Amino acid sequence: MAAELICFSPQCRARFAIRDVLYNCPRCGGLLEASYPDWTYDPAALKRLWRERRMSNLPLDASGVWRYREIIPFLAASDRVVSLREGNTPLLDAPRAASYAGLDRLTFKHQGFNPTGSFKDNGMTCGTAQALRLGMKRVACVSTGNTSASMAAYASAAGLDPIIFIPHGNISYGKLAQALDYGARTLQVEANFDQILALVRALADRLGIYLLNSINPFRIEGQKTIIVEMMDQRDWRTPDWIVLPGGNLGNTSAFGKALREMRALGLIDRTPRLAVVQAEGSAPFYDLAHAPEGASLRAVENPETLATAIRIGDPVSWPKALYEVRSSNGVVEKVSEQEIADAKAQVGLCGIGSEPASAATLAGIRKLRAAGVMRADEDVVAVLTGNLLKDPDYIYRYHTGQLTTPSGAKILPTFANQPTVVPNDPDRIAELLG
Ligand code: F0G
Repeated sequence: MAAELICFSPQCRARFAIRDVLYNCPRCGGLLEASYPDWTYDPAALKRLWRERRMSNLPLDASGVWRYREIIPFLAASDRVVSLREGNTPLLDAPRAASYAGLDRLTFKHQGFNPTGSFKDNGMTCGTAQALRLGMKRVACVSTGNTSASMAAYASAAGLDPIIFIPHGNISYGKLAQALDYGARTLQVEANFDQILALVRALADRLGIYLLNSINPFRIEGQKTIIVEMMDQRDWRTPDWIVLPGGNLGNTSAFGKALREMRALGLIDRTPRLAVVQAEGSAPFYDLAHAPEGASLRAVENPETLATAIRIGDPVSWPKALYEVRSSNGVVEKVSEQEIADAKAQVGLCGIGSEPASAATLAGIRKLRAAGVMRADEDVVAVLTGNLLKDPDYIYRYHTGQLTTPSGAKILPTFANQPTVVPNDPDRIAELLG
C-alpha cells in the first residue's frame, strides 16, 4: 500500500515520503495529512473482515484502532505496534440526557473508556508506532492533560522516553498524576498551552525529539477510527449529527477525514453533519466559523474555561477543521461555564459521567435544539472525550456550590447533590433517610 504525506493547503498539495519527520509542509508551512493514493477495497468485504476480527484474540485485532488497519495503512509492517487495547469504547443510550437536550434519543460514544481515560489513546498508539518506525528515542507533547497522560503511557509501554510540557497550575490533578505514574519527565511551564506549543516546536528540532501533538498526522490517523468503530457498532447506519468538543481541533480534523475517506471507499453513502462545541471563553473556532468566508483564525490571547482540556486560544488544526465542518454542512456552537457544568451533571445522572470538556457536547446540543438547528427526531451521536475521574475536584465543587468561573463568578449548583456528614447514630440516620 502506497502511503505518503500531503500538504493540506489546496494551493500547495506538495507530497512527501511517509517516513519524513515533518509536522508542517516545508514548502508553505501548511498542515500535513497521510494519504493513500491507490487504495481501493470491496466495502462489503471490509465490513465483514472488521466484524470477524472482533472474535479474534490477536492483540492487533483486539485493539479498536488496529482492527481497522486497512483505513490507517501508513505502516509498512505492524510488528512494532504497541497497543494497550485502546478503542473498543461503548455506544451508550442516554434517554435522560436526550430529554434534557430536547431530543427524542441521544447516544454517547464514550471515549473515556479508553486505557488512559480519553480519546487520545486512539491516536497515541499510532503516533507511537510511527515514532518506533522512525527510530526515535524521545517523544514530547504539550498538553492540557489528556494528551500527556496518553503519551506517557504509550511511550513508556514502547520503551521510549516521554517528555511532557504542561501549563503550570492549569491541568487537573488526575491527568498530572497519570503522567507522573506512567513515568514521563514532566515540565510545568509558566505559560499557557499556545505559548508552550510554540516553545516546544522550536525545541523539538534542536533536541531531536519526536513531537506527538495533534499536528502529528499519525495521531489523526488513529483518531479516525473513533468514527469507523462507531459506524461499525451502528451496523453502518449513518447518524444525522456527530457532536464533539473543540480545543486544538485535531479530533474535528480526524472525524472529518474519516467521513470523507469512508465515503470515498464506499463504506457510507451519506455524510453526517459535524457539530463542534467550544467553551465561550476559548472559542476562536466559533468566531472563525461565524466570520465572513475566507477569514483566518484570530487567536484568543487569554483563553479561559474550567473545562481545562479545551482551554486553547490558538488551535493549530483550524484550517483542516474548518474544511471538515464546511464539507459536512456542519456547525460550530459555543456554551457558557454554567451550561457546561449543568450538562455535566446531567451526563452524570445518566449513570455515565464525563469530564467537563466532554459535557460541552450536551450543552451544545441543547442550545442547537433550542435554536432549531437540530430537530428532536434527528439521530445524534455525541462523543464524550474523557472519563469522569479525570477531574473530580470540579465535580465536588459543583455539587457543594463552590464552583466559580475563571473570572470569579459563581456557578449555580442547579443539579447539586451535596454529601451529608452524619453522626455514628442509627436513629439519626434513619430519621434523615425518612
Ligand atoms: N476533550 C478532551 C477531554 C480533551 O482532552 C481535548 C483536548 C478535547 C476535548 C479537544 O480535542 O484538541 O482535538 O479539539 N485535549 C488536548 C490535550 C489539547 O492536550 O490533552 P481537540
